[in-house]
Amino acid sequence: MKKILAPSVLAADFGKLAEEVRVAADAGAEYIHIDVMDGMFVPSISFGMPVIQSIRPCTDKVFDVHMMVEEPGRYAEAMKKAGADLLCVHQEACRHLNRTIGEIHSLGMRAGVAINPATPVSMLECVLDQVDMVLVMSVNPGFGGQEFIPYTLKKVSQLRKRLEYLGLKTDIQVDGGINLGNVRQFLAAGANVIVTGSAVYHGDVAANVRAFMKEFEEFQE
Ligand code: DX5
Ligand code: ZN
Repeated sequence: MKKILAPSVLAADFGKLAEEVRVAADAGAEYIHIDVMDGMFVPSISFGMPVIQSIRPCTDKVFDVHMMVEEPGRYAEAMKKAGADLLCVHQEACRHLNRTIGEIHSLGMRAGVAINPATPVSMLECVLDQVDMVLVMSVNPGFGGQEFIPYTLKKVSQLRKRLEYLGLKTDIQVDGGINLGNVRQFLAAGANVIVTGSAVYHGDVAANVRAFMKEFEEFQE
């Protein structure tokens, strides 16, 4: 499957956010991963629609919005207006997941569903054929710069096998603690959309993006 890099701007310098987005996009990242936190679903608060809207003109790359928000369906329309292309909601945060996925699609966005490390892959069984992407969190969401939890790799391979069995070519995204030293393990497990915050935004952003793209090219399935 096509491998996609999704730099998380949570680790960027917010004082020059537009430039940070542009540099990653120009260096070859196909998605811009945007972490929205509400202080309820996760302990921290990040930013919301006005910030997303203000960076939308920087690039036409895919805005991949990760909603770490309770009942994220409440904001689907506002997120679409702000510029989201792909809206990813947590299974744990949606009382009516099927309805929320339907709302996202009816607004013309792609729909992703995320699961926390302690949520089994089987929780998604009923929606696997409805979603465009599954995000398997490799850390507990809420903060950048954490170490990835090794057992989440097993969940990725379990999910890839299940999708193949069902004849689905759904994207699997992984997010949290991914760097140049461990990204191959995630690719080998079956992930194809790689989120990375600190490993891109700490240091030379363009060089870091290119280094990930090189890993993707050199990786043998
Ligand atoms: C964690 C966020 C991640 C985070 C990744 O709650 O969802 O997207 O920014 O950052 P790193 O790559 O530093 O773990
Ligand atoms: Zn994220």
